[in-house]
Amino acid sequence: MKIATALANSNIAIIKYWGNSNDELIIPSNNSISFTMDDKLQTKTTVILDEEFTIDELWINDQKATAKETERVASIIELVRIKAKSKLKAKIFSENSFPKGAGLASSASSFAALSGATCKAYSLGLNKKELSKIARMGSGSASRSIFGGAVEWIKGIRKDGEDCYAQEIAPKEKFKELRNIVAILERKEKKIGSREGMKITTSTSKNFENRLIEVEKRLKIAREAILDFDFEKLAPVIMEDSDSMHKVMKESNPSLIYMNDISHKIRKEIIELNKSSEKYLGAYTFDAGPNAHIYTLSKNTSKIKSILNEIEGVQEIIECGIGDGIRFSDSHLM
Ligand code: PMV
Repeated sequence: MKIATALANSNIAIIKYWGNSNDELIIPSNNSISFTMDDKLQTKTTVILDEEFTIDELWINDQKATAKETERVASIIELVRIKAKSKLKAKIFSENSFPKGAGLASSASSFAALSGATCKAYSLGLNKKELSKIARMGSGSASRSIFGGAVEWIKGIRKDGEDCYAQEIAPKEKFKELRNIVAILERKEKKIGSREGMKITTSTSKNFENRLIEVEKRLKIAREAILDFDFEKLAPVIMEDSDSMHKVMKESNPSLIYMNDISHKIRKEIIELNKSSEKYLGAYTFDAGPNAHIYTLSKNTSKIKSILNEIEGVQEIIECGIGDGIRFSDSHLM
């Protein structure tokens, strides 16, 4: 029997990934940048290999996973199995530190932890760059959760995706003051998953190519603002990129609407707050779901939270700092 356990945290992009140039190899149409969250949004995954096992099996938070969930995970296991030239089947146990069905995307932390634990169990001695390439096949954003701090996922130029990987821009220590205030608005799973949604947008949105041009400018500003850690410079770019992604989602056919009325209300409140303060106190960003993520500095968290608390429909508020990339543990789940 072989056993390995990995821990990985969620990440929230400030320059978003939405669309692939190659859907099979998961090569994104643009680079993306995120911050890895602290251990409040974490997945722990144990992978066990044994000659007795005849199929790959998966448990999430102590429950047997659905066939669809198992299939997606098994495809990553198979990828690693081929690389390791092994025939062993796996049992996988995965747990999230955040409440299941909180409407928080767990795919980034899940596939990052899965990739790490699987590679270790099959004794593939991969470095983080190579691990990020495996993680991206499970979920694109998972490639970024391999690293801590500020992370960029690079699309590369090769057709085979071999130069498409994530790398750290700056370590978490640089962002001791940075917070992400998460407002949970809805606990349901999204209707159209991101992989499917991206395909719809790249093939039908008339502004998708424009977005790619604008993203290049925002990436440059974001990298500079991260290296100098300049929140005033970073905040407008974060909001612009979220708006730009939701615009191309909305004009897709069928139209992809992930934000709800409460999301829009929060967006407006943050714009007004920044206007009346004459500086950027908060920067909103929304993924493929209604929940709001407000990046802010520690000195402004109580202001942001009190605004969110006033908004009807905000079910829960979680405050995250910036955290670590993948780690391994000897305390296994089973
Ligand atoms: O990693 P995926 O395939 O679940 O896609 C993530 C897409 C967004 O969360 C909307 C943006 C991002 O860059 O994380």
